[in-house]
Amino acid sequence: MSPSIWRTASRVIADSRNTPSSYSTTRLCALAYRPISTYGYTQAKALVYPKNGPIPEVLNLHTHSISPPHSNLLTLRTISAPLNPADINQIQGTYPTAPPFTTNLGTPTPHAVPGNEACFEVLSAGTNAKSVKKGDWVIPRATGLGTWRTHLQCEEDKVVRVEKEGLDSKQVATVNVNPVTAWRMLKDFGIKEGEWFIQNGANSGVGRAAIQFGRMWGLKSIAVVRGRPGEEGEKLRKELEELGADKVISDEELMEKSFKDRVKEWTGRDSISLGLNCVGGDAAMAMAKVLNTGAHMVTYGAMSKSPMRVGASMLIFKDIKFDGFWVSRWADQHPEKKKITVESILQLIRENKFKDVPMVEVPWNWDTKKEDLVEAIQGTLEGYRKGKGIFVFGDT
Ligand SMILES: NC(=O)c1ccc[n+]([C@@H]2O[C@H](COP(=O)([O-])OP(=O)(O)OC[C@H]3O[C@@H](n4cnc5c(N)ncnc54)[C@H](OP(=O)(O)O)[C@@H]3O)[C@@H](O)[C@H]2O)c1
Repeated sequence: MSPSIWRTASRVIADSRNTPSSYSTTRLCALAYRPISTYGYTQAKALVYPKNGPIPEVLNLHTHSISPPHSNLLTLRTISAPLNPADINQIQGTYPTAPPFTTNLGTPTPHAVPGNEACFEVLSAGTNAKSVKKGDWVIPRATGLGTWRTHLQCEEDKVVRVEKEGLDSKQVATVNVNPVTAWRMLKDFGIKEGEWFIQNGANSGVGRAAIQFGRMWGLKSIAVVRGRPGEEGEKLRKELEELGADKVISDEELMEKSFKDRVKEWTGRDSISLGLNCVGGDAAMAMAKVLNTGAHMVTYGAMSKSPMRVGASMLIFKDIKFDGFWVSRWADQHPEKKKITVESILQLIRENKFKDVPMVEVPWNWDTKKEDLVEAIQGTLEGYRKGKGIFVFGDT
């Protein structure tokens, strides 16, 4: 389609939003494909919220336009963006950080855009932008960028270029948080080659990454997952074993009295040097009970929303170190290491040595309704899911 037809199309779209007048629906559908308006303005949609609260009540789909980029600005098109538990917690207001609430997108009151991870394509770059060019793929440099939107304009230094050769956009969109978290927790808490670690939520994005890195680095692992009836449980066990877990057990097995003896049998000593916990509650403490003297128990999530009750003997006699890990803080403190970690993980993906978490695609096209997006986001709150939700952008 020639530029003049693009402009006609976009004028029709712009007109139809204000006065759905003289153009027939058929004509609008035929023309309303690529929303670039006259003078190079990009039409965009973003999920936005004015305050914290329940997702269906606070989320809105907002349409706005983006002017051509100048100086070091980039105009980006989102290709895919995952739905992580922390994104939901941010909207609900139960997360320690929040994205900025502004009127930058033309909302009548300050609103924030949710979402922290994505793979974007550079549509255009201002004349001072040096690190990327049109067609490149980029990911957010830090959290808080607001990724649940079709397009975004931001300064060049808010994103990092990714060499897209050999990668698909969903792998790129999900590299920044979960695999980096798993990588750092296995690197930074003293576990050595040949030693064991135990983790709950082992089928999560972080858990699956930890299993795979652990296997690559000569660590052995016990993967704890929530029990599933019949074939489902067996299927998940096999899946995690194939990824590299040495033992896969259900949370019910973890709570059995005989569990300590089973661990001794498996490990040949008394003997696990690291625990990774994203669940909390009594089940997390059952993991702590099988750790070595002086071991680290690293908490990085709280999916059960239950607090942990630590017995005094674990602190006094077993000297278990209860640590927390937050990848956002770590990345702020170690930007160079973060970059290297991300690049190393992407290289493993290219070499087929690292498998993604299963994902459930949520299509987001120009005409996708807010209700469909909200329903998918709500689904992220449900347990026993087939995979991580990920927005995959089509004709936006
Ligand atoms: N601290 C950090 O820097 C950091 C970084 C990344 C992630 N995280 C946290 O790590 C956790 C996992 O994130 P993710 O993106 O990897 O998750 P994910 O892929 O979306 O998977 C969610 C996991 O949580 C489990 N789960 C859900 N509800 C549960 C409940 N009520 N009790 C026990 N387990 C439950 C699921 O088990 P089922 O399949 O059985 O439902 C699944 O294993 C989240 O808490 C997230 O906020 C923290």
